[in-house]
Amino acid sequence: MILFLCSIAAEEILRDRSDIKVKTPNYPDKYPHNSTKIWRFKHNYGVWSVSIDRFFLENSLDCRKDFLEIMENKTSVKFCGTKSSGSLYTSRGPEILLKFSSDGSMQQMGFHLEVLHFVTEGDIEKTINERERKRAARANVTKFVEGKLTDSVLFLTLVSLLGLALVSLILLIVYYIVNINRKNRRQNSNYNRNVVFQTPIIATKSRRYSKSNSREDSKAEANRDNRTPTRYV
Ligand SMILES: *[C@@H]1O[C@H](CO)[C@@H](O)[C@H](O)[C@H]1NC(C)=O
Ligand SMILES: *[C@@H]1O[C@H](CO)[C@@H](O)[C@H](O)[C@H]1NC(C)=O
Ligand SMILES: *[C@@H]1O[C@H](CO)[C@@H](O)[C@H](O)[C@H]1NC(C)=O
Repeated sequence: MILFLCSIAAEEILRDRSDIKVKTPNYPDKYPHNSTKIWRFKHNYGVWSVSIDRFFLENSLDCRKDFLEIMENKTSVKFCGTKSSGSLYTSRGPEILLKFSSDGSMQQMGFHLEVLHFVTEGDIEKTINERERKRAARANVTKFVEGKLTDSVLFLTLVSLLGLALVSLILLIVYYIVNINRKNRRQNSNYNRNVVFQTPIIATKSRRYSKSNSREDSKAEANRDNRTPTRYV
């Protein structure tokens, strides 16, 4: 079972720096007096297994002198004296702390431990799911960015087309204005020629007008003539 787990989770275990050796200072020589050393093991999932290769500490009541303490959450266990090789402790969670402490009295060879990280099938499942979720989220982000890019490309294309249309419209307007101006100028010159041609008509009209004027003048004259006799009456 463990072999099966290890083969599945080999990648995880390797990455987790599994099979970690923990030794007292100066091992295999005697550890120093008044020495303290702490090892912290932390992961997001799985459990830790602590096994003994060699274990020689000063023995004392309740391990008050030299000891190895394993802490998990708020609970702690102390080990001291001489112990045979084999499993010493298996954690319940993915986080443990090992502490070695020596006092000013007797020195010993110390200990050599092996700490392994184990993951359960549930952990592997969780990890794979998490990885899948992360990959999906990444893909989603990529899709989102691509979507944005497509949107911006579409937008740019639209803006470009609109700009092109606007420029075309302006060019058309300018062309028409220039054309109309040219036509007007041509028409103006034609009009001038017409004017020259039509001058007699206008002249006739004015002659007629002057004629009527003169008629009125003569009328006025007649009036004057009419008035004249009254003046002489
Ligand atoms: C340790 O404590 C945390 C909260 O402080 C809790 O979620 C977790 O389950 C505990 N682990 C164990 C192994 O008791
Ligand atoms: C160790 O600590 C004790 C008390 O704290 C002290 O009396 C002793 O001299 C110390 N020993 C060494 C080697 O530092
Ligand atoms: C991907 O995005 C959509 C909406 O943008 C969201 O509903 C969905 O949950 C996302 N999927 C993942 C795996 O993040």
